[in-house]
Amino acid sequence: MQPAKILERFPSAQLATFKGKDLLRVDEFTGEELTCLLDLAAHMKLLHKSGKSYQPLQGKTLGMIFDKASTRTRVSFEVGMYQLGGMSMFLSGKELQLGRGEPISDTAKVLSRYVDAIMIRTFSHTGVEELAKHADIPIINGLTDQFHPCQALADMLTIQEHKGKLKGVKLAYVGDGNNVANSLVLAAVLLGMDVRVAAPEGYEMDQQIVQTAKAYALQNGGQLLVTHDPVEAVQGADVVYTDVWTSMGFEAENEQRLKAFAPYQVNDQLTSHASPSYLFMHCLPAHRGEEVSSSVIDGPHSVVFDQAENRLHAQKAVLAALV
Ligand code: CP
Ligand code: NVA
Repeated sequence: MQPAKILERFPSAQLATFKGKDLLRVDEFTGEELTCLLDLAAHMKLLHKSGKSYQPLQGKTLGMIFDKASTRTRVSFEVGMYQLGGMSMFLSGKELQLGRGEPISDTAKVLSRYVDAIMIRTFSHTGVEELAKHADIPIINGLTDQFHPCQALADMLTIQEHKGKLKGVKLAYVGDGNNVANSLVLAAVLLGMDVRVAAPEGYEMDQQIVQTAKAYALQNGGQLLVTHDPVEAVQGADVVYTDVWTSMGFEAENEQRLKAFAPYQVNDQLTSHASPSYLFMHCLPAHRGEEVSSSVIDGPHSVVFDQAENRLHAQKAVLAALV
């Protein structure tokens, strides 16, 4: 396929719906729209792998605000913008005037005069909503305490590549009901997956998000079961997913979390209940010996580095569609 024709496969009306939109939560898009983004991501990946450049964002700039650490998100967005013909700018939240109390609304209005989109990684999700409310350009959530939509898109792309489909695929998430879990579950049910989540008491996913996800599951032919039993979640699973027990910003709770999560480690014993061809997934960074044993994350079922790579391709699709 020629690079210039990459978008021709997609109904222009459907692509037009993305222009200028934000990506704050993965469920801002319908299952169909997510499928469209994933198709675009797969094409982007194919083009890149065949050495063809595709540069629809020439002359465009992405501002990247970081209030938390990052390896994958920062590098994949920066490389992604470069590959699409544009450029990006790293903005440390602490070094912006935002860090000295300039209102987020003023920051949004000022940055809208300079850059063509903003990616932000921060603590408060409502802060990102506030940024989006006052900006005239697309805002992309690069992780908040509540959501991590770019991760979920890369995860869906990875499952689709390895399992050949998403609909009906059994996904088990074991661990903290955190930002990664919220976005993963929302994306999975919107795409018709059969999802089971096991978290310890007190660390379950937000009830409102569970209710929303159950409604999406009903509309899209998916399923969602939440439990405290990791074996029930993993039974027959095609994909076993976990994330850190202590997310950024929750370090003060580390000791108490280590105790609560101990029975939720993804190890050989737990994964013996999964399908023999299960995939192990983790958004990374991982803590071997805590949420996952090294035998699993470094073993033959693990696709964690494909996931990390797919951040690049999925985000290039997001950037090309929104900007
Ligand atoms: N998975 C992920 O978002 O990684 P980083 O924290 O390194 O960006
Ligand atoms: N849940 C983790 C994900 C890191 C990519 C965190 O928020 O720290």
